[in-house]
Order: sequence, then C-alpha cells, then structure tokens
Amino acid sequence: MRKRTGRTAALSVLGAGAGLLALTLCAPLAHADALQVLHWWTSASERKAANVLAARLATENIDWRDAAIPGGAGIGAVKVLKSRVLAGNSPEVMQLVGYSLAEWSDLGLLLQLDGVAASGNWSRLLHPTAYSLVQNHGHVMAVPLGIHRINNLYYNRRLFARFGLTPSATWAEFERAAEKLRLAGITALAQSSEPWQVATLFETLVLAEAGPAFYRELFVRKNLEAYADPRLLHALKRLKTLRRWMPTPLRERPWTDAARQLADGDAAMFIMGDWAKGELNAWGLVTDEAFGCVAVPETAQYHLFSIDTLAMFSASYSHQAAQEKLAEVVISAPLQADYNRIKGSIPVLRGADTGKMDSCARNSVQVFARGAAAQAPSLVHRMASDESTKDAIVAEVSRYFNDEQVSAADAQRRLATIVRATSEQGKPP
Ligand code: GAL
Repeated sequence: MRKRTGRTAALSVLGAGAGLLALTLCAPLAHADALQVLHWWTSASERKAANVLAARLATENIDWRDAAIPGGAGIGAVKVLKSRVLAGNSPEVMQLVGYSLAEWSDLGLLLQLDGVAASGNWSRLLHPTAYSLVQNHGHVMAVPLGIHRINNLYYNRRLFARFGLTPSATWAEFERAAEKLRLAGITALAQSSEPWQVATLFETLVLAEAGPAFYRELFVRKNLEAYADPRLLHALKRLKTLRRWMPTPLRERPWTDAARQLADGDAAMFIMGDWAKGELNAWGLVTDEAFGCVAVPETAQYHLFSIDTLAMFSASYSHQAAQEKLAEVVISAPLQADYNRIKGSIPVLRGADTGKMDSCARNSVQVFARGAAAQAPSLVHRMASDESTKDAIVAEVSRYFNDEQVSAADAQRRLATIVRATSEQGKPP
C-alpha cells in the first residue's frame, strides 16, 4: 500500500463537506468557466468522441479548452504533463489512467471526487473494475469514460470472401488462413513496429497462451517464477512468428495507418484495441459490413481491458465546481452511450443498453460482465503496472521483436532481469 500524503489527508477532512457540495451539483454553473483538458485523442474517432464531451460541457456553461498531444497510448502526452506540472502549469483535466492515476494522486495534486461519486451513486452504478480503478486509498480520484477491449481481430470482409476464409478461433486456423493470403501476395496482418503497438500485440499473445490468471502473475504480481515459465517463451516465439505475415519492411507508423491498410484492403487482418473499430466506423466503414470484429484466436473467453479516465488537477481549487460538473456529466447514461459508440469502447455503467451496439461492443459487454476471472488488465495501457516497469518491458519486447539476433530465450531472461530490478527498487532499504 502506498503512504497517504498530508495533502490527501487534509482533503479527506474537507470531504466532510461533501454532502453540502452534492446539493450544488445538479444545476448548470452560474458563472461560465473553462477547463483545459490534456489528452492524446487526435485521430478522427478520438476527436469526434472528445467533441461529444465538449458539446455536453458547453450546455453547462463550461468551455472545453483542448490540449491534445498526438501519440498513441499517451506516450507524448504523459511526458508533456510531467514538464507542465514541474513548471507549475498543470492543466485542469488530464487523461490519467490506471497506475499513473495512483502515482499522480499520491503526490497530492489531484482533486478528490468523493462527493460527486457519492451523489451519483457510482459504487452501485459502475462496473466494479471501473470503480476500483478510479480509487486510491479509498478516495475517488478520477472519472471513468469507457472500457476498451484490446484482444480484437478485425478482418476485411471483401478479402475474406474472395479467398473463402472464415475468422480463425485457433492459431492453427489463423496460420492456415494467413499462409493462403501470403501465397496470393496479400499482407495477412497489418502491423506497425512502434514499440507500444508491438507490446500491445505481445500482451494479447500472453493472454492467448496462458489466460488471465497467469497474465496477472506476470504483469500485476510480477512473480519471478512466471518469468521462467515456458508459456512466456511460447508467447514470445509466437510474436516473432507473426512477422511472417506482416508487411515488409515493417515500419514504425501510427496505429491509424495500420487500420487504414485494413480499410483499403492492403491487409486482410489487424489486431488492435477497439479504438480501431471506432476509427474504421468514423471513416464510414460499418462493423459487420466492411469488416468483421472477433476475439484474437484463443482469447474469446477473455477481456484484455483498458479503461480511459479523466483526473482533475486541484492547483488553486478555482475550477472545482466545473471539474465536478465534468465528472458528473461523464457518468450520465446518454453521454456514456454516445461517447462510447464513437470511441469504440463500452460504457462503464453496469447493465448499459446494448440495443444500439454493434456485435463487437455487445460481445465486449458480455465477456467483461463475467468479472475478474475473464478480465486481464492491459500492461501497455497502464492498467497492470507502474509507468517505469511498463516502459522497460515495452522497450525490451520491442527490441526482441525488431532484432533478428535476440532469441526468445534471451528476451525471456531480460524480462526477468527487468522485473527483478524494478521490484528491488520498490523495496525499503
Ligand atoms: C489507449 C487509450 C485509447 C486510445 C489508444 C490509442 O491508451 O486508452 O483511448 O486512444 O490509446 O491512442
């Protein structure tokens, strides 16, 4: 457990006034306010989804000042945040997720949202996984937006029909289909060599190989025995085997470029989180018509998740009412439905209406509802581990993937070394 800072302790005392605060939450703000929001949503669908939030806030007299930093998975945005906070210029709102939320909240820089959560009944309405993710030391420190499923495989339906293919449930079937495509001169699997994208594929392969319990041993508990397990070696080997069906040369490109390959029929399949589905939809491609969305082979029973959340920097408390209003409106059922339909994710509310969802989202809802035994928290998207361990693992996996000279056994040993070293750092002297 992390230590509580004096600041968070002081805020919890202030939390006694939360009941009074809740009374003021339902009306639009009497005075217009503006919130600067730092995030990394820059693709077509991401922008559209952010605009839904901005438009809803405008009806509350609050101006959404956009501070988007390009770079998938927030690699650039998190760096910008660090330098801005050090310079005493923090934004009012930041897309802070998972472990990074705990790290920032331990510094005592974030606004507690206990009053909003209590009056909005979050503990009952939210999926337990989403609710526990926004808490730190018993306080609600962020508002969750949507639940992304990462272990999705999209396929181009025109290409699949042309070659008489059906989506593969197993890796053996996948290999047969991919080889058929390769022999016909078609790139079977779109992919970028950008480190976070390679590592996102790798964590999916770990889940396929060994299921959520082993996945958690590896990335959440960082059990060194798991790092010596042959299942890790197999997942690493599969990662390199898949290169055979990827574009050559393999370039470091944004994830939207790989999605574009699938859309244009330059590649038959693509493995990526369901933000890619949102993007294909934003380009006018309809799910189940232009492309299909199924679970990655051997992961149909599992949900590799990443939950986007917004946290509020408290700084001078001068924007508190507007920040609380933002947290309140994000959880409303209509906004959840609109935002998540565009973003590709599913609502954080339990029992959300699946009537207007596509098959991909409905499937995500069903599998996620099975609870912790089916759920695996994404390492790459900050759900499983602290930022520095995550960064070190991503770098090592990417080095192995891109360097012919590094064997799977070498990579396995190096991953164990990283985890041993980062665990040692966390121990008291
Ligand atoms: C994830 C984030 C998604 C999406 C994706 C690509 O980390 O949860 O919302 O933006 O990165 O950048």
